[in-house]
Amino acid sequence: MTDEPLLQIRDLVTEFRTESGTVRALKGVDLTVESGQTVALVGESGSGKSVTSLSVMRLIPAASGSITAGQILFRGRDGTVTDLARQPERAMRDIRGNEISMIFQEPMTSLNPTLKVGVQIAEAAWLHQGVTGSAARKRAEEMLALVEIPDAKRRADAYPHELSGGMRQRVMIAMALVCRPSLLIADEPTTALDVTVQLQILDLIRRLQREIGMGVLFITHNLGVVAELADRVAVMYSGRIVETATTDDLFDRPSHPYTRGLLASMPVIDHAARKRGEIARLNEIPGSVPDPANPPAGCDFNPRCSWMVDDCRKAVPPLFDVKGDHKSRCLRWSELNV
Ligand SMILES: Nc1ncnc2c1ncn2[C@@H]1O[C@H](COP(=O)(O)OP(=O)(O)O)[C@@H](O)[C@H]1O
Ligand SMILES: [Mg+2]
Repeated sequence: MTDEPLLQIRDLVTEFRTESGTVRALKGVDLTVESGQTVALVGESGSGKSVTSLSVMRLIPAASGSITAGQILFRGRDGTVTDLARQPERAMRDIRGNEISMIFQEPMTSLNPTLKVGVQIAEAAWLHQGVTGSAARKRAEEMLALVEIPDAKRRADAYPHELSGGMRQRVMIAMALVCRPSLLIADEPTTALDVTVQLQILDLIRRLQREIGMGVLFITHNLGVVAELADRVAVMYSGRIVETATTDDLFDRPSHPYTRGLLASMPVIDHAARKRGEIARLNEIPGSVPDPANPPAGCDFNPRCSWMVDDCRKAVPPLFDVKGDHKSRCLRWSELNV
């Protein structure tokens, strides 16, 4: 039983109804996160990363979209595995913010501007664990200290707008972790912050992950962050995982042209250039993510791919085994690293 992964997404399909018809945002996603592991989900904007995380949290707005196929198997604290795709909303309310927490790019979307931050953290502890009064207040202060907010006792009485962006992000992390979740989903949590604060927040997440022992699904379009933080990487393109591997294998032997493109477009960390105010970004992948209402035939990446052959237009390639659990959805994976 305990051998079951913490999170196992199987062949997940999430669709939206739009004016131009049904848009299939996730076209059969497979993704696994083990306890204590950090898995990075990477890909350009519009590839389906946020829809994946919102599907796991069951926060896809019912008015516009739904999960139409697949499973989201989650191992709870008591060891039983449930399919989140089929849980009633009532059960999800017990899981969200408790066993699974999420942090977002913009803390103001999850913080209440009219409540002191200490009260908001205490509320999460009350809601899921029944901690009340001074005990809840103390938990809030402990959490603020844990996320390295200086003078936590006093800061607990601050309103969100009285804090800097970096401090608000720490508060959101404190709120997410107060119930010690077994899974944290972080959706581009540092993208809005300046580089120095980003590094501090990433260090914080890494430290808390070790302390709490949680699994982390870390969504980012920044491969520098991936190299720093992740044990495994899943590369997403147009609603599908196109490559997955350990972080080392992915950087050593990228086996999908899209992954190679992402790696080639990594900003060069050139401190001298940065001091001069230049950001060196090389080899942007030409073209753009396909319109989900009108995807190309066959491999979704074929219109942008320099390795494209006729067969790439005929069918969506399966995930090929590169080596061990390194997989690539490219017909020509074996030619890419010779
Ligand atoms: N509310 C929505 N209504 C219609 N389509 C949506 C909605 N949310 C997301 N999508 C579609 O899903 C695709 C993936 O979006 P998203 O997961 O937000 O990408 P990202 O990888 O940048 O997080 C988008 O290109 C969009 O077409
Ligand atoms: Mg997103």
